[in-house]
Amino acid sequence: MTIKIRRTEPGDYEAVQRILAGPKAVWGTLQLPFPSVEQWRKRLAEPAESLFSLSACVENDEVVGQLGLQTFPDRPRRRHAGQIGMAVRDDWQGKGVGAALMKAAIDLADNWLNLTRLELEVFADNTSAVRLYEKCGFTIEGTLASYGFRDGQYADAYIMARLRGPKPSAGS
Ligand SMILES: CC(C)(COP(=O)(O)OP(=O)(O)OC[C@H]1O[C@@H](n2cnc3c(N)ncnc32)[C@H](O)[C@@H]1OP(=O)(O)O)[C@@H](O)C(=O)NCCC(=O)NCCS
Repeated sequence: MTIKIRRTEPGDYEAVQRILAGPKAVWGTLQLPFPSVEQWRKRLAEPAESLFSLSACVENDEVVGQLGLQTFPDRPRRRHAGQIGMAVRDDWQGKGVGAALMKAAIDLADNWLNLTRLELEVFADNTSAVRLYEKCGFTIEGTLASYGFRDGQYADAYIMARLRGPKPSAGS
């Protein structure tokens, strides 16, 4: 199976809404159940330049995963950082889509945007996500107690980050 990563386009709104409508996607993120197609159409229509949204496509260019990398060009002291959020459609999880999205985001961050700190928040009991992030070089920096309300109760989250040293200059 080939997984192609490309920029999310405005026309992807129905696919993105479908990804985030899945019970597992709702459980793992801060999205609410019953996402609105219209809200996603508006959100994708004019994305901020500081947000790099990537989509994972499988057969027939079907979008089954989405990753957002938020940067902070207007905040001088946070220009080195990027925040990541992602979700894979429920029926496509565990097939390498998340790993492909994260690999592309890290390449973008390291080699094109020159970000040195990538960070994300993840529910502490979301073991598949935590494992994926650890495999990609993220470490747990701390626990955010009762971070989010999920299915009737508060759930803790980890803040995780991946730090990269500055690239040596040419010739050094
Ligand atoms: C977390 C998520 C993005 C991972 O994407 P995915 O496509 O399912 O993951 P992949 O198939 O690429 O697997 C990558 C790695 O994740 C870990 N992983 C994935 N599924 C796993 C599972 N069921 N149990 C344990 N580890 C798992 C493994 O380390 C795996 O690497 P391996 O196959 O070499 O062992 C996806 O499951 C998802 O969207 N979940 C719901 C929404 C969510 O939780 N988003 C994250 C918010 S922080």
